[in-house]
Amino acid sequence: MNNVLVTGGAGFIGSNFIRHLLSVETEIRVVNFDALTYAGNADNLKDVQNDSRYLFVQGNICDADFVSATLRKYEIDTVVHFAAESHVDRSILGPRQFVETNVMGTFTLLHEAKKFWLDESSLPQITKRFHHVSTDEVFGSLAPHEPAWTEETPYAPNSPYAASKASSDHLVRAYQHTYHLPITITNCSNNYGPYQFPEKLIPVIILNALEGKPLPVYGDGQQIRDWLHVQDHCEAIRLVLQKGKIGETYNVGGVNQPANLTIIETICEMLDEARPSGAPHKNLITFVKDRLGHDRRYDIDTTKISTELGWQPRHTLTEGLFDTVQWYLANLEWVQTIRQRQDYQGWIDANYKAR
Ligand code: NAD
Ligand code: TYD
Repeated sequence: MNNVLVTGGAGFIGSNFIRHLLSVETEIRVVNFDALTYAGNADNLKDVQNDSRYLFVQGNICDADFVSATLRKYEIDTVVHFAAESHVDRSILGPRQFVETNVMGTFTLLHEAKKFWLDESSLPQITKRFHHVSTDEVFGSLAPHEPAWTEETPYAPNSPYAASKASSDHLVRAYQHTYHLPITITNCSNNYGPYQFPEKLIPVIILNALEGKPLPVYGDGQQIRDWLHVQDHCEAIRLVLQKGKIGETYNVGGVNQPANLTIIETICEMLDEARPSGAPHKNLITFVKDRLGHDRRYDIDTTKISTELGWQPRHTLTEGLFDTVQWYLANLEWVQTIRQRQDYQGWIDANYKAR
């Protein structure tokens, strides 16, 4: 791994990953390739922008010519692919962009990497890798007593987001099977932690509670997710890059399965301590109309990555949530800058007004 192209590096997980990589690898060049959509924010990496090993390139993964030129210009030997439309609720209101970015964008990257790495031999014979970051949502939804998903579980995506990610996973797999493109895939659970875009569940709850606004709980709040601290996720990806077997997929999860309402109540209790407001923050909890096709339960089996690669999450959910609450309290200016963008309030109105 010499010259790494990180797609979507201005987003939540990608920016945490770049910071992590620069902190542990000395001899490396990281090119952050990001279109800066509503979810992208170059300021997420303000602290490393003057690092000579880091470079930002604004570009769209659907633009084959520009992807091709960037791979060549920086002699990219490793692609870590995060760029995507990532919010299920947005995929319900506007699915087309998900197919374009997640399916066509991934296809374009795969095809250009194949041409550069396999069809031409201009790059020296060094190790190459295309790592694709995917989600556990490709597996669908579990009934109460069904076992956790393993890497062998058949795909059954339910939302347009999950279907677009499943399609991209299949393309990545096919490029390995057909052309021998050296790929690995990780399917991870719900991430949380610093720099998560403010419209996802955990930041929504922290920020609304601070402002005394209703805390919107979809349906009965008994949906279950596995929650993975973003730092643990970044460590898992780096380990897969170092030790993962070509062609393999690895599940990554935080090994916890709380109901949404439990997460929300925990955050309220943390804020009661950190920012007492005269009344318990949980009084703000408001049950609203459910998400269409809402998946009921996720549970991901991480035995493979822990036994084969020695990875374990280092954060418990309580510690991770506590750190995350503290991070948002200390970074309200970062939140404010995003909220002042033209399109932010439009999304909040579109998603919540009719609920
Ligand atoms: P995010 O929405 O915070 O960031 C996505 C980034 O991709 C943004 O910086 C955006 O500008 C960029 N981007 C979007 N379209 C692009 C395009 N066409 N070309 C170039 N850049 C583009 O997403 P995230 O939460 O950081 O998720 C990163 C990856 O991890 C995604 O592939 C997502 O499916 C996957 N994932 C996320 C979670 C989670 O809980 N956040 C869980 C499982 C998997
Ligand atoms: P989200 O962060 O959108 O992740 P995902 O849908 O990918 O799991 O949502 C996490 C859970 O929280 C999901 O079950 C939907 C629920 N949710 C709410 O109850 N209220 C909200 O305002 C949001 C954004 C999500």
